[in-house]
Amino acid sequence: MSFVEADQIYSFKFKHILRHVQEQHAKSLLDVGAGDSFLGLSLLPNIKDYVAVESDPERAGSLRKDGLRVLEGVFPSIEVHGTYDLVLLSQVMPKDVSRYEDFLGRTWNLVSDGGELVVVTFVSDSVKYNKMFSILSDFGEVKTEGLVIEDSVFESEEVGNYINQLKCMFVRRV
Ligand SMILES: C[S@@+](CC[C@H](N)C(=O)[O-])C[C@H]1O[C@@H](n2cnc3c(N)ncnc32)[C@H](O)[C@@H]1O
Repeated sequence: MSFVEADQIYSFKFKHILRHVQEQHAKSLLDVGAGDSFLGLSLLPNIKDYVAVESDPERAGSLRKDGLRVLEGVFPSIEVHGTYDLVLLSQVMPKDVSRYEDFLGRTWNLVSDGGELVVVTFVSDSVKYNKMFSILSDFGEVKTEGLVIEDSVFESEEVGNYINQLKCMFVRRV
């Protein structure tokens, strides 16, 4: 693989997302609630436009220090211009379900034509999961994928359980 150094990637979740970015030939990615630099740095050599949105000043500073483009502030209040091939919401949905509509709606507006919104979320809370699914279904066909474990490094029971509860949801803007 040219830009995904899979063997060096410790996080199974990101490995999964990276593979998806590669398959989609995405050239721009908005990573809402990026957290750390792992995904951005893994993508940098090949993706033209990676932008992290991060509300935590310390994390934002650290992303910036690693050379990544950062919009520091709270989404969706923060102004984000343009559209992206992929917009990623990985474990960043608000706690309050009543905010889902606005949060996902604002995110959807940032997806370019032919692009995709990717939501990575826990499935353990079915009320929240079903609400997300229902809102995303209004945008288009929702595809879901579990994060299947295929790497022996991640076979520990603890991580296995954790990963098995995470699901990726994809909606393409057609
Ligand atoms: C649970 S971490 C997830 C990090 C990474 N996306 C992942 O999947 O591992 C959530 C991150 O999003 C940031 N965050 C949470 N809500 C946010 C919001 N509304 N706008 C911007 N950043 C947010 C937090 O500061 C934190 O760094």
